[in-house]
This record gives sequence, structure tokens and C-alpha cells, in this order.
Amino acid sequence: MHKPPPLLRLGDVPGGPEAGTLIARLADLPTHGGKDVLFKKDELRVNVFVQRWQNDVFVYENCCPHAHTPLNLANDRFLNLSENALICRTHGALFTIEDGKCIGGPCQGQYLRAVDFEVKSGAIYSK
Ligand code: FES
Repeated sequence: MHKPPPLLRLGDVPGGPEAGTLIARLADLPTHGGKDVLFKKDELRVNVFVQRWQNDVFVYENCCPHAHTPLNLANDRFLNLSENALICRTHGALFTIEDGKCIGGPCQGQYLRAVDFEVKSGAIYSK
């Protein structure tokens, strides 16, 4: 059985933003909207995504545990058509929105890596 990986603190990742960096403003995300966010420092890159869903917001590393590709292709869409799961566009793996567990597809039982964040004054910041 797989366990969820520990929360990812972006400030601990080479190339990641320091704690307190703006990831996204909630007002820029429609209901069930997502946002692909790329942080760059020199040659290093850290790619995460934000997903609003129901009354909550989730942030994950944008890296599928199957082949380590980003979940999306070229847009901010991370939900499946039914809008009840996250989907990897490369081979169709489905993940629960709440905890990033793969519930169908080639990496069944594995998890997306959740990012540590806080919401303050209507915006999402890294921790
Ligand atoms: S890379 Fe995501 S399902 Fe294969």
C-alpha cells in the first residue's frame, strides 16, 4: 500500500519560492477552476497547480506519479469532465481532489504530492 507523501514545502525545494510567496488569488479562480503555476529560479523550475473545488482549495505539485509528467497539457484544466476528480491528461489517471490519491489508471493507489500553503486575505501563499 502506498502512503501519501509528506506535504511539500516549496521553500525547501531547489528553485522553489520562499515561504510567503503568492501562489494565486482566489478571485482569479472560478468555481471549480484550476491554475497552473510555474516558479523559476535560474535553471530550476517548480511546477504546482491550484484547484478550487466546492468551497475549498487544493494545491499539488504538477507531477503525475506514473510518468512524472504534468497533469495538464497546455491549459489550467485539471478536473475530469464530471468535475469530481483530477485527471492526468497523459494516460488518464484519476485522482481524488481532496487528497490526491489515484483511484483509476496506471498509478492506482499512489498519490499526488500536496503542497503546504495558507490562505490569507483571499490569496494562497506558500509556506
Ligand atoms: S503520466 Fe499520468 S497517467 Fe501516465
